[in-house]
Amino acid sequence: MNVYTSTAACFFCLYGYLCKTHDFLCNELFSPGKNKPFPLKMDDHPLNQRPIACCGLTCCDFITLCKGFPLEDSDQRCIDMYWQRGGNASNTSTVLALLGARTECLCTIANTREKEFLKEDFAKYAVNIENCVYLDDCTAPVSNCIINVQNGSRTILHSNKSLPEFSYKDFQKIDLKKQKYQWVHFEGRPNVPDISSMLQAIDSHNKAHPDEKIITSVELEKTRMEIVPLLDKADYVFVSKEHAQIHGYQCKEDTVEGLGTKIRDSSVIICAWGESGACAKPKHGPIVASPIFPPEGGVVDTLGAGDSFNAGVIFALSRGKMLQEAVSFGCLVAGKKCGFRGFEGLKGFPL
Ligand code: FRU
Repeated sequence: MNVYTSTAACFFCLYGYLCKTHDFLCNELFSPGKNKPFPLKMDDHPLNQRPIACCGLTCCDFITLCKGFPLEDSDQRCIDMYWQRGGNASNTSTVLALLGARTECLCTIANTREKEFLKEDFAKYAVNIENCVYLDDCTAPVSNCIINVQNGSRTILHSNKSLPEFSYKDFQKIDLKKQKYQWVHFEGRPNVPDISSMLQAIDSHNKAHPDEKIITSVELEKTRMEIVPLLDKADYVFVSKEHAQIHGYQCKEDTVEGLGTKIRDSSVIICAWGESGACAKPKHGPIVASPIFPPEGGVVDTLGAGDSFNAGVIFALSRGKMLQEAVSFGCLVAGKKCGFRGFEGLKGFPL
């Protein structure tokens, strides 16, 4: 069966221009013949896809856009100031949704005044938050992010005083059989034993239901050694340059060769290294690599570029692309993101 696309926003659901059902109803049933766009297979409809969930942090980013990096103890004007929903898992889920995946974010949210902003913003990007946990008596994590538009650098001053992490107990309330996740991605947060238990629960689900296998990935981004035990717990392991450097690695190839010995036999390690692009290696396979793709108009905002890279790789793999293509797509998505503020400009970025 074919449905039809257009750029109309959907009144009936959250999927905005991605909702092909709405287009089908409006363009075909109610006004046949009008707007004859290209046919799209029903499988591509977000509601027909198995969802991709991202588990980790959601916070508020207070962004200050500056003409140059501010001088200490000075009083100056900035270009703009605005709030943006942030946190690695939250950003990765936003980008996955913009690329066209059916997406969910698994996180905790403080019952504070920031909550409505975060919930509305998730809804704006059609990221499902039905399994999120709302907590009293804690403060919302926030980041002051200084973005220098001259080179796009982002300086993050993060504060998380008391928001508990999304726990194994929270995860146990989710019926994996019902949710039918295609993929669950975990940000390597400090609650490593909980994340390990969640990954183990997915392993058990996969053993019991081999035809409903859930693919897993984990991100080792922060410079904390406590997250190292996560290396051998997922199918895909993303290691950041900053994390690799605490192990003494000085390039992406040495990282995937070295840390790649610690992943599972059937797993893949992926490492992005700023200007030198990214590479990936199956434990017993060859390295594949990709250069970066800098935005044509120059770099203006790198906040969330790593999260966008992860989303690009996951999206491409979830759509059946080979590892080489997926790593290149991750670099393309990250490069594109650096050319504008926020993530909105990635809407419909083609695979
Ligand atoms: C970017 C980001 C920001 C957040 C910070 C948390 O990768 O997720 O959105 O403020 O990192 O460490």
